[in-house]
Amino acid sequence: MRKIQMVDLQGQYEGIKDRVNKGLQEVIESAAFINGPEVHAFQKELEEYLGVKHVIPCANGTDALQIAMMGLGLQRGDEVITADFTFAATVEVIALLNLTPVLVDVNPYNFNIDIEAIRKAITPKTKAIVPVHLFGQTANMDEIMAIAKEHDLYVIEDNAQGIGSNYMHGNGSKSKTGTIGHVGTTSFFPSKNLGAYGDGGAIFTNDDDLAHIIRGVVNHGMYERYHHDVVGVNSRLDAMQAVVLRAKLPFLTDYNNARRDAARKYTAAFANEEKIL
Ligand SMILES: Cc1ncc(COP(=O)(O)O)c(C=O)c1O
Repeated sequence: MRKIQMVDLQGQYEGIKDRVNKGLQEVIESAAFINGPEVHAFQKELEEYLGVKHVIPCANGTDALQIAMMGLGLQRGDEVITADFTFAATVEVIALLNLTPVLVDVNPYNFNIDIEAIRKAITPKTKAIVPVHLFGQTANMDEIMAIAKEHDLYVIEDNAQGIGSNYMHGNGSKSKTGTIGHVGTTSFFPSKNLGAYGDGGAIFTNDDDLAHIIRGVVNHGMYERYHHDVVGVNSRLDAMQAVVLRAKLPFLTDYNNARRDAARKYTAAFANEEKIL
């Protein structure tokens, strides 16, 4: 008998075993370990799934945030507004780049960044807002994009916990989270909605110029082999992780629905507990 898992990775593996085992074997035999055809195919499949022009795979979700901020050209001292209730990585990268994190409160109903709190935090030094789609619940992107437009700010969606979520716009249309802001990021940490068998991450954008810049930043600032035009980082997705992610992507909606079912069961079980929202 196995304990009930927070995320049943062994159960997931049973459903994709043949494809994963075969794919990993092929990568080993091909020796194309970094980038290569598997990573490229995954990138294309994820672009199609998300309905976004560019997916740039990278090494993890923390790097994805850092690279997005580097790609946008944020400079020392620029203020970046984000939620005070998130995983540390969101704030860590802001500090790491010598930008100034400005933490604002979340609303108590879905734990996402509070719109009025964003408005109050804007100063002449504000350059970007980083909403976090926490626990798969979507931040209020219509309002956030309107504020950004009004104040000429970038929006970087931290979608590490939200991949596959649909955001319903005020006009009734839907977009996948991570594809609405100027740039979005995600994590493929094993327990995430779309989890690899190691670390992984990706950056999304519909902006061709930004995508080009970011493709260089993830790879030592290289746009042409051994020509280093900008300061970059080494942050690439490896082919073994791409095999796993390709095997899982067709099931992402099912995995997300299973999480929703579990959430509904907990909500029902605690419905009469006044102190639990
Ligand atoms: C909201 C959020 N942002 C960023 C990250 C960082 O992702 P990674 O662990 O892949 O670096 C995580 C992962 O836990 C996260 O939950």
